[in-house]
Amino acid sequence: MQNPWKDIPLSDYESHMSLDTVAQLQTLSSVMKHQFEAVDAESVMILGVAGGNGLEHIDRARYKKVFGVDVNSSYLEEVGNRFSSLDGVLELICADLTAEYDRLPQADLLIADLLIEYIGFECFGNVVKQVCPKYISCVTQYDTGEGFVSDSPYLHSFDGLDSIHRSIDPDKLKECLTALGYSGFHSERYPLPNGKMLIRTDCGSNDTAK
Ligand SMILES: C[S@@+](CC[C@H](N)C(=O)[O-])C[C@H]1O[C@@H](n2cnc3c(N)ncnc32)[C@H](O)[C@@H]1O
Repeated sequence: MQNPWKDIPLSDYESHMSLDTVAQLQTLSSVMKHQFEAVDAESVMILGVAGGNGLEHIDRARYKKVFGVDVNSSYLEEVGNRFSSLDGVLELICADLTAEYDRLPQADLLIADLLIEYIGFECFGNVVKQVCPKYISCVTQYDTGEGFVSDSPYLHSFDGLDSIHRSIDPDKLKECLTALGYSGFHSERYPLPNGKMLIRTDCGSNDTAK
């Protein structure tokens, strides 16, 4: 089965996510600014980078290497066009994280915002073991009864995602990260206009803490 994200036009995704009633693109961009600034890291890998939302906050004086990973090559092409100012720093990797995680390089900080929902804990664990980050910061979505995609004129573009989406319990995420050797958990909650909520979970490697 082809990953359904490959069939979703970036313009539909971004138009939906930036609707006033959804406001996830804007919220995720400001969350990413904090994710970049919260730790002492020289390299960062963003899983599920989509159209590069948040990359506008990359400080070239601080980050020597930024990896953007996504399964959709047309999204990555657009990221390259939008962020030519990051030439020499930004490296885009087209990979299906459920199968091709062994192609990923190492990075100090691993960011996974609204991504674990589509690959699950086991695959995310494989990615973490491969990338060996000192720090991890993830955003997951707390859904209300109306479903994981909010009502909008673009709703049907996302129909195919039902087959791969699962809700992520933040406590289970912490258990998964603890088993992978991470601790020092810090959480933030970001309420959205439609009653949903984004939950950010940060942690650090036990090896870094020693
Ligand atoms: C909800 S979006 C992520 C939101 C994004 N971080 C933002 O700030 O807008 C999920 C992204 O993960 C990518 N993705 C989903 N499954 C994937 C997989 N198996 N491997 C790599 N990327 C995947 C999708 O193509 C999409 O760009």
